[in-house]
Amino acid sequence: MIKTNLALLKESITHEPSFDGQSARLITLENANGMTVSFMDIGASWLSTCLPVKGEQREVLLRSTNMTEHMKQNAYFGSIVGRYANRIANGQFTLEGHSYQLDINNGKNSLHGGFQGYDKRRWTIKSQSNNHVMFTLESNDGDQGYPGRVTVVVTYTLTEQNSVEITYYAETDKATPLNLTNHAYFNLAGESSTAKSTDHTLILNADYYLPTNESLIPTGELRSVTSTSFDFRQAKSIGRDFLSEPDQEIAGGYDHAFMFSKEVTDGQQDAAVLISPDKDIVMKVKTTKPAIQFYSGNFLVDTPGASKEYQRYDGLALETQFLPDGPNHPEWKKNSGILNAGEIYQHQTSYLFEF
Ligand code: BGC
Repeated sequence: MIKTNLALLKESITHEPSFDGQSARLITLENANGMTVSFMDIGASWLSTCLPVKGEQREVLLRSTNMTEHMKQNAYFGSIVGRYANRIANGQFTLEGHSYQLDINNGKNSLHGGFQGYDKRRWTIKSQSNNHVMFTLESNDGDQGYPGRVTVVVTYTLTEQNSVEITYYAETDKATPLNLTNHAYFNLAGESSTAKSTDHTLILNADYYLPTNESLIPTGELRSVTSTSFDFRQAKSIGRDFLSEPDQEIAGGYDHAFMFSKEVTDGQQDAAVLISPDKDIVMKVKTTKPAIQFYSGNFLVDTPGASKEYQRYDGLALETQFLPDGPNHPEWKKNSGILNAGEIYQHQTSYLFEF
């Protein structure tokens, strides 16, 4: 009998021990339309989304071959990324008069929370039902160099409208950079297909993007997308203007933060829309976060994946978040990603699949 994708996922991801020597716990949710989504407690990761399309189950998320490979990869497949998503220049920042030094784990910068970011942790499954799973994590004062003890709650819900809703909640006892996101990689033509991220069509309701230097740290400028290859305000094939400008060449493709127009960040409107090459799946991203990192999979070279060894551009990430290197840009005000003691971090991003 041919094993289903779900049976293979369970076997591969729970068979070998994870970082702490214990097996991952896998949670699968299914709705009445035959859509299934799977998560694990390691990194509170979103590992699989299978959609019934054209009489078949189509897996649209990338993931590792097995737990051993999951622990080795640095793509952050489906994981919750924290304490601060994306890069902080030289791993340094100053907050409330104190200077902090974080792990340097990406060139000379700190990326996605450091060596033992939230993606490497075992989260607690706080509650679970047919349509949701709630994960919690305690991050200590000093965790990877960050100040303050932070409590994080991430809940995934699968709706009957075929939406995966992610809610983020956090509190801290000291001011700290906090920027949580989910790092799923999508290939709407199918994880095992030959289609590339560049074959997809994208809409980003964003008037500005952040150019970066060669180590992918934002220069600080918020640049208008008008008349650039970064203008996705009208549906555009990702491949159309691919690598056509120095701001893309520096990153090997798209790997940039885009600032959403304020009016689309109410969590109800479409902030981003991704359309499969055959136009048979449309994914609508709604969020309350101010920005999105659109990453076209530029570094996915020779990464062992569920059905094959992934190569560049085999999937793409749409990570809703605050601005990269925000702690070094207080002039970005509330988009700098600082959470103060007594404040509540509460955000929502949903990925609605139409098929
Ligand atoms: C970053 C990329 C990085 C990738 C995997 C993305 O969020 O923008 O530069 O390679 O994550 O770590």
